[in-house]
Amino acid sequence: MKWVQPDPKRENWYWPTEALKERAWISDPHIYETAGADPVHFWAQRAEELVWFQKWKETHVDEPYAYKWFVGGKINISYNSLDRHVEAGQGDKVALIWEPEPTQEPNRILTYRELLAEVSRLANALKRLGIKKGDRVGIYLPMIPEAVIAMQACVRIGAVHTVVFSAFSAESLRDRLLDSGARLLITADGYYRRGKVIDLKLQADQALAGTKVEKVIVVRRTGHPIPMNPNRDLWYPELVQGEKDFCPAEPMDGEDLAFILYTSGTTGKPKGVMHATGGYAVQVYATAKWDFNLHEDDVHFCTADVGWITGHSYLNYGPLMNGVATVVYEGSPDYPDFGRMWQIIEKHKVTVYYTAPTAIRMHVKWGDEWPKKYDLSSLRVLGTVGEPINEEAWLWYFKLIGGERCPIIDTWWQTETGATCVQALPGIGPFIPTVAGRPFPGIKAKIVDAGGQPVKLGEGGYLVLEPPFPPALTRGLYGDPEKFKATYFGEFGPKLYFTKDGARMDEMGNIRITGRVDDVMNVAGHRLATAEVEDALAQHPLVSEVAVVSRPDDIKGEVPVAFVLLKAGAQPSEELKKELIKTVDKHIGPTARPAEIFFTEDVPKTRSGKIMRRVLKALVRGEPVGDITTLRNPEVVELLKQVVGYKD
Ligand code: PRX
Repeated sequence: MKWVQPDPKRENWYWPTEALKERAWISDPHIYETAGADPVHFWAQRAEELVWFQKWKETHVDEPYAYKWFVGGKINISYNSLDRHVEAGQGDKVALIWEPEPTQEPNRILTYRELLAEVSRLANALKRLGIKKGDRVGIYLPMIPEAVIAMQACVRIGAVHTVVFSAFSAESLRDRLLDSGARLLITADGYYRRGKVIDLKLQADQALAGTKVEKVIVVRRTGHPIPMNPNRDLWYPELVQGEKDFCPAEPMDGEDLAFILYTSGTTGKPKGVMHATGGYAVQVYATAKWDFNLHEDDVHFCTADVGWITGHSYLNYGPLMNGVATVVYEGSPDYPDFGRMWQIIEKHKVTVYYTAPTAIRMHVKWGDEWPKKYDLSSLRVLGTVGEPINEEAWLWYFKLIGGERCPIIDTWWQTETGATCVQALPGIGPFIPTVAGRPFPGIKAKIVDAGGQPVKLGEGGYLVLEPPFPPALTRGLYGDPEKFKATYFGEFGPKLYFTKDGARMDEMGNIRITGRVDDVMNVAGHRLATAEVEDALAQHPLVSEVAVVSRPDDIKGEVPVAFVLLKAGAQPSEELKKELIKTVDKHIGPTARPAEIFFTEDVPKTRSGKIMRRVLKALVRGEPVGDITTLRNPEVVELLKQVVGYKD
């Protein structure tokens, strides 16, 4: 079935076919006007589709820095993900398909009824361990069913999960456990990555000193021997054995804290983004449904790790609240060969595939023969997220994976927005390479200049959101209300949420995202502050000063490049570079490794001593360095040109 057709006049523009419009939840573009005229009413209508234990009293409260949604309403995200479907007679439908990395291992497939029972057993066990509503629970799990089960069990009893990406280091985990004050951690012995066992428990053990964690639940995934602390560590299977397979879902207020997810800001310290139950549930549910046109028979495959917001919203909560099957893949896309993702699509008849531009560029590099080996005709909708997608990758995805049949939904959003905010809708279109689309109905976005004034159509500026802010927008940064105000509303005041992304808009209202305008990098779709990498490198005993900037990369989008000044007496060497990389691994994780390390005697600085990263950025990108008259040490620029091999 063909779901899209080319625009006869504009190259590389595509529109939904009649067949797609018929199948789409939304195909009338007037939705943008009606929702825009009364966004609060629009979101109330979306909320009506979920089950509320008690209806909200006020749909929206528009207070500066304290916007609220569905106040006084009682809802539970896990109830809406699981019980709702079981009660509607869908208990035997597949909810979760787990694909382990080792190909000889069987899939684990859980129906909605089975998933509810698993989640309930763990939820009951958590309660027995004294975890109550509002308590924070750390989740440090690989891509196994228990990751979804653990998140669901937490929100079921009103505990606040904070999921930490399993490839993050022990130190990153410790920072997050400390900041959130987590009392319990759920982890695993290990997992498989490119055929090798990765020991996760070891990292977890190293992270716990000094935290408030009293108990550690350990999932047995690999079965390799690991030390267990008898006073603290509990094996998951033994813990949940004997627990009842039903646990009633806790009625949560619309504004109750659902979870915290740490993300990179511009400082070295990640910030705990808080999400409120009702608004998050409603926007995630509605966007998953409309963006991917989810219907009962869909098999949804989101490749994001549960450690990122995409994994939260579109691997776990979004698909499950919509009652579809969600695919969870444990391992690497190149294991055992470059065809693994396409093999999974063929095997499970995946209908919606949602991935990152970085992954697509990797597949382009690996070659067309891999997807060509597999039957991808089950696909209906393709999605991308996390970074701007280049035209070449878009067209490859469209042609090779979608067979020129499927719309590409390029979704713009952030950890802070919790759910997608800008994208084309499948039944409406248009689908244009490098253009995300329009703000989702009911969401108001515009492009402004540095003074907060709208720019002319087609001109570049800053992407901001306007009130009523989207229901899923973060309610704050854990433990730091002032930072919340300063970070998002410092530039333009409480009436404009600043996304920190550059963008431009065409006359149709389609938005093209041009990338971050702050010191946040997007490395292979992973969000990372240059300051975080600097802080990590600065911890090496031989480093006296360090500056990190990003450089574009064909595959990863952006990569960090480090300029390192050594302490007196220390000698630059290849060996030292390796040590520095290890330091980054230890403090953050391998995702943050600099692509290049330059040893230098000095870096450009202003008279007040601040490093001028703008100049370094230009140097590594081969761009004009611009005005350097305000530098205290302009001579260093010539020196650095040689160091980086810059050509004038
Ligand atoms: O710069 C934007 C980029 O990713 C940032 C948010 O990163 P994070 O909080 O890790 O969430 C990523 C997954 C939602 C944004 O500020 N970004 C996200 N989606 C897109 C994007 N850039 C361009 N196009 C997108 N579709």
